[in-house]
Amino acid sequence: MEASSPIGIFDSGIGGLTVARAVKNLMPNEQLIYFGDTAHLPYGDKSTASIQAYSVKIADVLLRARCKAILIACNSASTAAFELVKAYVASRAKVFDVIEPVVDYVSVHHGGKKVGLIGTKQTVNSGVYRQKIEALNKRVQFSSLATPLLAPMIEEGFHNNQISQVIVENYLEDEELRGVEALILGCTHYPLIKAQIDSFYDGSVEVIDSSEMVAQATFTALNSLGLLNTGEKRKDRFLVSDYTPSFENTTKLFFGKEVSLEKYPLWE
Ligand code: DGL
Repeated sequence: MEASSPIGIFDSGIGGLTVARAVKNLMPNEQLIYFGDTAHLPYGDKSTASIQAYSVKIADVLLRARCKAILIACNSASTAAFELVKAYVASRAKVFDVIEPVVDYVSVHHGGKKVGLIGTKQTVNSGVYRQKIEALNKRVQFSSLATPLLAPMIEEGFHNNQISQVIVENYLEDEELRGVEALILGCTHYPLIKAQIDSFYDGSVEVIDSSEMVAQATFTALNSLGLLNTGEKRKDRFLVSDYTPSFENTTKLFFGKEVSLEKYPLWE
């Protein structure tokens, strides 16, 4: 592992670019190698075994690109494959997920409160958030709701409009989320609909967007290991396992600026 090596970031598609954007804002000197597994999107409806197979394969691509760190910028992959990817990567790179920083945040700020989670079926049904939050022993009352329409809706460009408004309201009115004092956005696509969720709650519920805390946790860990790049700044790369122009058009919404995608099939 060298400080000048890139940071690898992966997701099922382009949702993880919301995390990549936060990482870039905080660590502008780092080279990013982003991998969006667009050929297998969405992960949220796949079996745990399939998500594990894709995640290990992508970790291998990022290791071959000499990444010093691998950030799993997808909740579905974090719940299904974080432990496996860590074991596979071993000492070759640092591995981070999007869940641990959120659990740490809940531990500090939401002990004794009612905290909700929305995410894909994989994320919610895995029970990983529940286990980790209950293990804190902070008397958090945890509830969760799978909201499988939201990620495809956002990928298709429906956010901050009437259609997304109706779908978001319908989910948030669910009995399961009644009375929450904080809501975890457990999917890296959801920052794009945070404004609608905020307005549903009219500011009375803290809506937790993990991208900045994940970037901060990565920064803190790399800094303490002396692994932040201080040398030459190299160009970021954005790989996708399947390419369509619509992915490229949508990247701007997630990353904040246009990026050019390179096709990189996972299996030839
Ligand atoms: N970005 C993924 C996540 O954070 C959701 C999209 C998918 O289902 O592939 O869970």
